[in-house]
Amino acid sequence: MSSAFFFVLNCCVLTTLTDGFSLSNCTIYFPFEYSGHLKVLCNRMGYWKTPSPLPHNTVNLDISYNAIQRIAEWDFIRLSNLIILNISHNRIHEIHANALSDLTNLEELNLSNNKITKVTSNLLNGLANLTHLRLDSNYIETIENQSLATLSNLRLVNFTDNKLMHISELHPLLRVPHLEELYLGENGFLVFNSSDIPSAFFGLKKLDLSRNPLTVFKMTENIFPDLEELDLSSCFQTNTSNWFILDKAFLNTVKTLNLSMNHFEENQLGYIMQSFASVNWMALDNLKGFKVETVLEKACSPSLRGLHLEGNQLSVLNDCMFRPCALLNALHLRNNGVSRMYKSSFDHLVNLTELRIQKNNLMQLNDTLQVLPNLRVLDLHLNSIQNLDCSDFANLTQLRQLYLHKNQIVTIKACVFKDLGNLEELILSSNRMLTVSGTFKHGPLNLQYLDLNNNKLSAIRRNSFKALDSLRTLHLSDSQILNIYPYAFAGLINLTDLHLASNKITERTLEKHYVFAGMPNLQSVDLGCNYISYNTQEELQIPPFMHLSELRVLKINSQRRGLNYIPSNFLKGLKNLQVFYAGNLNVKNLHVDTFSCTPKLALLDLTSNNLANRNALPSRLFQPISGLNKITLGRTHLKSLDFLVGANLSNLTILRASTNDLEFINQTIIQSLPQLKVLDLQNNSFTCDCSNAWFIDWAVKNNKTQVLYLNRYECRYPLSLSGKSLAAFNTESCNVNYDFICFIYSSSIVILTLVISFIYHFLKWQLVYAYYLFLAFINDKKRKQTLNQLDFQYDAFISYNAQEEPWVLEELVPKLEGQHGLRLCLHHRDFQPGKAIIDNIVDAIYNSRKTVCLITHNYLKSVWCSHEIQVASFRLFDEQKDVLVLVFLEDIPMHQLSPYYRMRKLVKKQTFLRRPKPGEDTRAFWQKLKMAIESKEDMKDRQILSGKDEDDI
Ligand SMILES: *[C@@H]1O[C@H](CO)[C@@H](O)[C@H](O)[C@H]1NC(C)=O
Ligand SMILES: *[C@@H]1O[C@H](CO)[C@@H](O)[C@H](O)[C@H]1NC(C)=O
Ligand SMILES: *[C@@H]1O[C@H](CO)[C@@H](O)[C@H](O)[C@H]1NC(C)=O
Ligand SMILES: *[C@@H]1O[C@H](CO)[C@@H](O)[C@H](O)[C@H]1NC(C)=O
Ligand SMILES: *[C@@H]1O[C@H](CO)[C@@H](O)[C@H](O)[C@H]1NC(C)=O
Repeated sequence: MSSAFFFVLNCCVLTTLTDGFSLSNCTIYFPFEYSGHLKVLCNRMGYWKTPSPLPHNTVNLDISYNAIQRIAEWDFIRLSNLIILNISHNRIHEIHANALSDLTNLEELNLSNNKITKVTSNLLNGLANLTHLRLDSNYIETIENQSLATLSNLRLVNFTDNKLMHISELHPLLRVPHLEELYLGENGFLVFNSSDIPSAFFGLKKLDLSRNPLTVFKMTENIFPDLEELDLSSCFQTNTSNWFILDKAFLNTVKTLNLSMNHFEENQLGYIMQSFASVNWMALDNLKGFKVETVLEKACSPSLRGLHLEGNQLSVLNDCMFRPCALLNALHLRNNGVSRMYKSSFDHLVNLTELRIQKNNLMQLNDTLQVLPNLRVLDLHLNSIQNLDCSDFANLTQLRQLYLHKNQIVTIKACVFKDLGNLEELILSSNRMLTVSGTFKHGPLNLQYLDLNNNKLSAIRRNSFKALDSLRTLHLSDSQILNIYPYAFAGLINLTDLHLASNKITERTLEKHYVFAGMPNLQSVDLGCNYISYNTQEELQIPPFMHLSELRVLKINSQRRGLNYIPSNFLKGLKNLQVFYAGNLNVKNLHVDTFSCTPKLALLDLTSNNLANRNALPSRLFQPISGLNKITLGRTHLKSLDFLVGANLSNLTILRASTNDLEFINQTIIQSLPQLKVLDLQNNSFTCDCSNAWFIDWAVKNNKTQVLYLNRYECRYPLSLSGKSLAAFNTESCNVNYDFICFIYSSSIVILTLVISFIYHFLKWQLVYAYYLFLAFINDKKRKQTLNQLDFQYDAFISYNAQEEPWVLEELVPKLEGQHGLRLCLHHRDFQPGKAIIDNIVDAIYNSRKTVCLITHNYLKSVWCSHEIQVASFRLFDEQKDVLVLVFLEDIPMHQLSPYYRMRKLVKKQTFLRRPKPGEDTRAFWQKLKMAIESKEDMKDRQILSGKDEDDI
């Protein structure tokens, strides 16, 4: 009993609930390691205060682009594991003094684009591990003295675009021992005077002072002894700017200098340049009021290797223009309106490896670049080049990258690229090329990346790319390609990526043999946005991808006439296919054999199709692809996810089915996806009643699967709840409340135990009694069925107390058996030994016509005797027969019978006799007894054998 009781108690101790995994409005970046460090994205969610609660093991938190106004003291209280925190693009103007001080592990803090006006002393308290601090685009006017004192690991501070006016505001930064990069652009500094700063920024490597309205730049102390990079672009707008550097050696560590968009006087520039004798990379874009030749003469020191000269209106590159810069490696001439140049323009730039003349007005190259044999990068994009001559790129044997996109090229002859034996990357997109047949006949032999997007190609002829056996990526999208001839791509033995999206390819283009032959290593094909269309799922005679056994990724999404049907053997041959994009195709169902040849499929995207039909996705469809990892079914009119139950997708980790007509998600569906990590069911028509109770509970509480944006799921039905939040639906009324059941269960057991022991103790005999009665009842039934006759084994069963035995044996037995010939049943004589006594009693009573009870005071006290009366009286009522004969051997007053309630009732109703007292005549008594035993009448017309008043007994 007690062990059962404890078991009951144990079942009530329910497992304690952990935090659910689904965050309102935030997502946990996937892939994540469950136990590991989390990246939580809460950006662009309309938050007006810091979201909470967030998982305490969040390491990277992005709450940018919200409307948060203040950071309160406890906002990040549980997030002491944070390493990266982005709170940019909010409206923060107030940060509680110690709000960030628990973030002792924080390394990057981005507070840019807020409304902070002051860096207060305790704002950044305790951030000992902070290395990157962004406070750009705020309204900061003051930086309090102690504010940065504890940031001993700070390397980078960005104060760009604030309201700092005086260099003296920078004092607190001097306390940062390891500061390397300091961004101070776009503030209000008018005067930069080193004497405003008491000591040097040792270790500072990069300083950005751009876009400050400086009128004075004065250095009397070397406050930047380690500076390597200095940005002073867009600072000096008047030619009266006062530039003074006490010692030319002060800035001689600077290697990278930006002086773009400034307004100097010519001799001033010369003076400035003297301070930057060791600069090797300089930007002089958009200078005002200079002759470029003069600038170059002053700027091109022997150490200069890279020069930016953008936007300086150099329409003609003159002879010998770059003579002062003979040692340049890189020259950028973007956006100068260059339309004319000469071989002699570049004559001296023998060491030039990078030339960028993009966004100019070049129409022809006129062999001018031949003189640059060491060129590795040549950027000519955004010009007006129409024709390329065979000699234009002659000699450029070292060229690696050639950018010719956004020109007007119509055709390119085979000879143009013949010398470019080292070219790796060629971009010819956004031209007007009509054909590529012949263009690549002689190479570039080493080409790896070829971009021909957005041209006017209509056909790809046989062997068009045959020489390009190193090519890995080929872009042919956004053209008008309709015909692809057999072996068009033959020879591209190293090609891995082929892009053919947005052309005019139809199913007929693909129905020829060998369209994709000759690319044994192809891993990815994009055929999206074409005109491929089928009107049946019937097998194709020539499955299009038979030769692409290494293909991993196939995109055929968004066919403009709708693919409508995926022929059952469409994917035949793609035995390594892992990713299949088949969205937006107007497909209504998939043939069960669709994936029978693609056993490695891991990602299936069927977004935006019409899969409303219940059998659109038969479970059997998924049998060959049990490794499926991610399935995307957004906007497919899905009504149920039941197909997943039989699909056996035991490896599925991401299921996206947003914007559908799903009403119910049940336990079986979720349990059929044991690896599910991310579930996106936004925008469905959920029914908010108990049939979804399990799902709601699970979505809120489970800690394995992230249910994306659960808080946005709305009820569609019942109409009374339409628009209400699904997660807020109260499932408690649906749940059988286990606590309560356990309570009731155990209490009942306790009470029952008490009752039973109580009864056992106090009402033992009544119980035993009831049991016997029951036995009698059973026996009686049996008997009725078996012997339905009137002859009894005995005439009478004599029930008496042992003390009456002498009278019974000496008088009653000889009289009745001897004289009257009756058969009597006596317990000491006729009971079967070995049989339970109660069974013997029952048998005796039922095998006898009558039961004669010899009543004395002792008889009434005896247990067994009262059983005998009990059974007999049961028979009496049951058979409606007068079977009981009561013989009072002693005088017993009625009131003494009352404890034997039953007996009293019997006496009232039954035949009874009284033993004659000594001296009385006994003959009448024996006669009456004999008659009583032999009488067969029913109770109804029984004879009252004695007219005596009951009360006299
Ligand atoms: C979650 O996003 C919704 C809509 O973007 C917005 O209305 C709601 O206020 C956000 N919840 C919280 C807690 O900020
Ligand atoms: C800073 O980070 C290091 C590990 O990079 C860690 O050991 C140390 O405890 C951190 N400092 C503080 C103040 O938490
Ligand atoms: C500094 O801030 C400016 C302005 O917001 C931004 O453009 C720049 O990328 C930032 N630089 C760094 C290194 O944070
Ligand atoms: C090439 O020569 C033509 C004709 O002489 C001239 O108009 C054009 O500007 C030259 N192109 C360049 C880039 O110098
Ligand atoms: C320039 O090129 C010549 C030979 O082409 C070479 O010897 C020299 O080292 C190069 N100078 C620099 C600075 O690259």
